[in-house]
Amino acid sequence: MAGVIGSAPPVGASKRTLTSDPATIRAAFPVLGRQVRGRPLVYLDSAASAQMPKVAVDAMVRHQTEGHANVHRGVHTLSYEATEAYDAVREQVRTFFNAPSVNEIVLAHGTTSAINLVARSWGDAHVQRGDEILVPLLEHHSNFVPWQMLAQRTGATLKVAPLLADGALDQDAFERLLTDRTRMVAVAHVSNVLGTQLPIRWIADLAHRRGAVVLVDGAQSAPHFPVDVQALGCDFFVCSGHKLYGPTGVGVLWGRLPLLESMAPYETGGGMIERVTVERTTFVPPPGRFEAGTPPILPVVGLGAAIEWLSSLDRTAVAAHEHTLLTRATERLAELPGLRIVGTAPGKVSVLSFVIDGVHPHDIGTVLDAEGIAIRAGHHCAQPLMHQLGLPGTARASFGAYNTAADVDALVQGVARVRKVFA
Ligand code: ALA
Repeated sequence: MAGVIGSAPPVGASKRTLTSDPATIRAAFPVLGRQVRGRPLVYLDSAASAQMPKVAVDAMVRHQTEGHANVHRGVHTLSYEATEAYDAVREQVRTFFNAPSVNEIVLAHGTTSAINLVARSWGDAHVQRGDEILVPLLEHHSNFVPWQMLAQRTGATLKVAPLLADGALDQDAFERLLTDRTRMVAVAHVSNVLGTQLPIRWIADLAHRRGAVVLVDGAQSAPHFPVDVQALGCDFFVCSGHKLYGPTGVGVLWGRLPLLESMAPYETGGGMIERVTVERTTFVPPPGRFEAGTPPILPVVGLGAAIEWLSSLDRTAVAAHEHTLLTRATERLAELPGLRIVGTAPGKVSVLSFVIDGVHPHDIGTVLDAEGIAIRAGHHCAQPLMHQLGLPGTARASFGAYNTAADVDALVQGVARVRKVFA
C-alpha cells in the first residue's frame, strides 16, 4: 500500500520495534495536551469513544485533500487510488483479527449497524416461531434490541442469561438456558458497564454443540487486547472504529464465509449488485453484497491508519498497563466511604463502574467535569442490566492505552471531592 493516498505510512512489520511507552503513546494524541475548564484534560471515557492518534487524523486529511474519489466505480486515477486505499484496509482488518479470508470482512458503519445487519439478514432467514435467542443480561442495547425485535418479528423467544453477584456470567444457568431450539447466542466479549470478559470459546463450543450460531460484540474488547476470531470460535464478530482509536461511522463485521454467502442483502442499491433488469436483481458475493451505496470511504481510511498505529504497539504490554491502572483505580476508589464498585468479576477489562451513596451518577460526572475529568455517567445503554442491579445508572471511568497513573490519581482525588460536595 505504499504510495496510496490516505494510507498510513508503510511500516516494516518485521523490523519495527513495538512500543508500550506511555509518554510515546500520549504524544500521539494532541487532544491530551488540551485544557478543559482550566485544568489539564483527564480523559477516562474511551469506552464511549477513544481519542484518535494524529497519524489517523493526518491520514484522513491527506486522503480528503489529495485523493478523495468514489471507490469501485471510476476509471480515473483518483478513483483507482481511493479503491486501492479502501480495499487495503479490508486486508488490514483481516490481518488484525486473523480472519481466514478478506471476503469475510464487511466494512459496516459501526457495531450497531453490523448487529442489525446480522439480525435482519441472517435472523429473518433462520429464526422461526418457537426458536430461541440467548443473550446475557449484561448486553448493551445494540446487542439486545435487534434480537428482541427479531424475536417479536418471528415469534421466537428471547432468553436472558443471568449474572453472578460479581457480574460474571452464570455459566450453569447459561448452559441450562441453551437448548436445541437456540438458533443464536449473541454475547458481548467485554461488558461496557461491568468490564466482565465473557468466556467466548466456552460459549461458542457449547452453542455449536446445540447447533446455534454465535455473534460476539467486540466493541469493548478489540481496543484492549488482540482478538483472533478463529481462536474465539465464534461465527460473527463485530466492533466499532471509533472505540478502536479510529473515526466514527465505520465498523467491522466479520462472519464465516458460508454464513455470509447464505445471507440475503440487508440494504440494497448501488455497488452490491451483479446485474439489474426490470424483472430482477442478482447480487455480488460477500463482502460487497453487504456494502450498498457509497461506503464510508474516509472513515475506512482513518480506521486503517488507526489499526496501523495500534499494530505499532506492544499490545500485550499495553493490556498489562491498562490492567494495572484498573487495579490501582479499583483499590483506591474502594477505600472511599459510601462508594461501591459495580462489577468485580475476575479478569475484568478496562472499565470501572461505581456508585456513591446518595449521589446521582450524573452529579458525579458533572463535578468531575468541572475538574477536567471526563467520565461517562448513566445507564450506559444497558437498561435491562441496570434494572436488575436496581440502579438508575453508574459513573464509569474507562481506560485506554494513553492513560497513566496520574489520570487514576486525578480521578480518585476528584471522586473524593464529589463526596465532600454532596456530604
Ligand atoms: N457503547 C458506548 C459506551 O458504553 C457508547 O459508552
